[in-house]
Amino acid sequence: MIKKRNNILKIAIDSPAAAGAGTLGRAISNHYNLSYLDTGKIYRYVAYLKIKYPKKFNKKFLTLKIKNIKIKNLQNKKLLSDKIGSAASIVSKKKYIRKLVHSFQLNFAYNPPLKFKGSCLDGRDITYNIVPDADLKFYITANLKTRALRRFNELKNTNQRITYYEVLKSIKKRDKSDFTRKISPLKKTKDSLLINTTNLTKRACFLKIKKIIDKKLKINGNI
Ligand code: C5P
Repeated sequence: MIKKRNNILKIAIDSPAAAGAGTLGRAISNHYNLSYLDTGKIYRYVAYLKIKYPKKFNKKFLTLKIKNIKIKNLQNKKLLSDKIGSAASIVSKKKYIRKLVHSFQLNFAYNPPLKFKGSCLDGRDITYNIVPDADLKFYITANLKTRALRRFNELKNTNQRITYYEVLKSIKKRDKSDFTRKISPLKKTKDSLLINTTNLTKRACFLKIKKIIDKKLKINGNI
């Protein structure tokens, strides 16, 4: 049983790759003083460990690594590559890996450090598996070409050698895997609000979501 803090604000976000969930999650978390977790980074970290330690990589090794995971492990720039993203979508299909990652995410969502007013997590199964009782749920998406272009520009800015078409192909493949896998597939739950960021600037997206959150907080008497 994990410890749960009472009266905290919990925001859950699910989205396909490169839809802008990370940028929004971070902006919302800064604004409302929430502890933010990009859960994709955990699967990327697992994929990174699998590539770096192919011989040692097994359940026991991973259990220890996840138990001792630090935020700095998730900030490793190497996790940002397209190769690691694709490898993450393969390891994330494994039941034992999802199980190991589960309790880390629960603790993060329900027991954020006291300096935070709550938590905000984004991923693929957050709204219905990790934080099903979130106060607010969002499904953030954008069309495939827009997502590929955004990811391509991000990768270009970190000096990674990859073409737009390679990114497009990779995201398409990842979408297929994330949407159709048997275990914890990406889906929009009925109680999630759909935000399509295709034609919206980062600021416009933030303001749209802020309006929804403020309304909810007002109703609950928190503002
Ligand atoms: O969000 P990001 O693109 O970094 O995620 C990398 C991969 O990790 C995804 O393609 C997905 O397969 C997996 N993932 C997942 N569940 C989450 C977050 C990410 O399966 N909650």
